Amino acid sequence: MSKPQVLICGTIVHAHDELKNDLGSIAEILHLDTPSRAEFFQACSSGGKYANITAIYRHNDSVDKVGFFDAELINALPESLKSICHNGAGYDQIDVHAAKARGITVSHTPAAVDDATADTAMFLVLSSLRQYYRAEVNARLGKFKAGLKPAHDPENKTLGIIGMGGIGSALAKRAAAFDMKIIYHNRNPNPNADPSYTYISSQQELLSQSDVVSLNLPLNKDTEKSFGKTQFDQMKTGAILVNTARGGVVDEEALIDALNSGKLSSAGLDVYPAEPKIDERLIKMDQCILLPHMGTETVETQKKMEVQVFGSIKTAIQTGKPSFIVKEHK
Ligand SMILES: *[C@@H]1O[C@H](CO)[C@@H](O)[C@H](O)[C@H]1NC(C)=O
Ligand SMILES: *[C@@H]1O[C@H](CO)[C@@H](O)[C@H](O)[C@H]1NC(C)=O
Ligand SMILES: *[C@@H]1O[C@H](CO)[C@@H](O)[C@H](O)[C@H]1NC(C)=O
Repeated sequence: MSKPQVLICGTIVHAHDELKNDLGSIAEILHLDTPSRAEFFQACSSGGKYANITAIYRHNDSVDKVGFFDAELINALPESLKSICHNGAGYDQIDVHAAKARGITVSHTPAAVDDATADTAMFLVLSSLRQYYRAEVNARLGKFKAGLKPAHDPENKTLGIIGMGGIGSALAKRAAAFDMKIIYHNRNPNPNADPSYTYISSQQELLSQSDVVSLNLPLNKDTEKSFGKTQFDQMKTGAILVNTARGGVVDEEALIDALNSGKLSSAGLDVYPAEPKIDERLIKMDQCILLPHMGTETVETQKKMEVQVFGSIKTAIQTGKPSFIVKEHK
């Protein structure tokens, strides 16, 4: 009997051996080699070279070849396709509702990204508080400390975490080591949260108490632009916003207004609404810390993510459903 076919939509960078020896032992591996979206659709149709695939490995770097996994693409996938296993924690690039309507199950890589993303968030918290960007610019310009003002310690500052999942929890652990006070807001208290963290059921209350607010929630219809003028107005004057989640969660115009008015003293950002573009006004603000979506850009974490996706595909082949299924499909 022939092995089930798996299509790799994206580039495997680290886990070549695992792909060949592990997944390769139970599946026939096909690689995306259609140069355009139209040719991809053709290959997925009856008689095409992807007409029998049962699972897709998806990485966002396939966007250049096939575009986002929107309803049009989902509906062009072959009848045989049962699982889309996405490499990434955030899966806003996949229309999970269209997939569900077709009986296709989507999985993602929640746990694998937690530590690396939390490291990035912690760096942004520290660097915003201590104003290390301005200091580094000074150092490189040969100005040493000229013009630099003392900034702020993390010790005893309140970190408000919005979204206490895996990444939020990993950030809390790091921030607690810097003697920050941890408060968090979630739909429900996280039963695994350390008892020293305080759950706050009202987001407004959390915002009014926090010196630094970190966004650690997914982008979806409910959260899109959910952080805007109203929320900035509810924050302490001089507070800091850190965003390692998705740029689309924040109303960027309201963020820029809050920074310009001094309502926020700084922002530490890894994500932006129109990546890879970063708004010029933010680029000019040297009190802000800006990174180009570096959350999981490490060899170790990216390998972990690739291996986790292969594991999900393997489970899908063996049981009919992948592991790490997105919440909309549970
Ligand atoms: C798909 O399956 C059909 C029916 O078993 C077979 O004729 C065809 O050659 C397969 N196509 C590919 C690309 O594997
Ligand atoms: C932080 O709070 C603790 C406990 O209230 C206090 O002992 C300590 O002096 C504070 N540290 C700073 C830097 O304010
Ligand atoms: C996905 O890829 C697009 C196009 O390259 C890019 O603009 C976007 O930032 C990427 N999203 C994520 C979450 O990596």
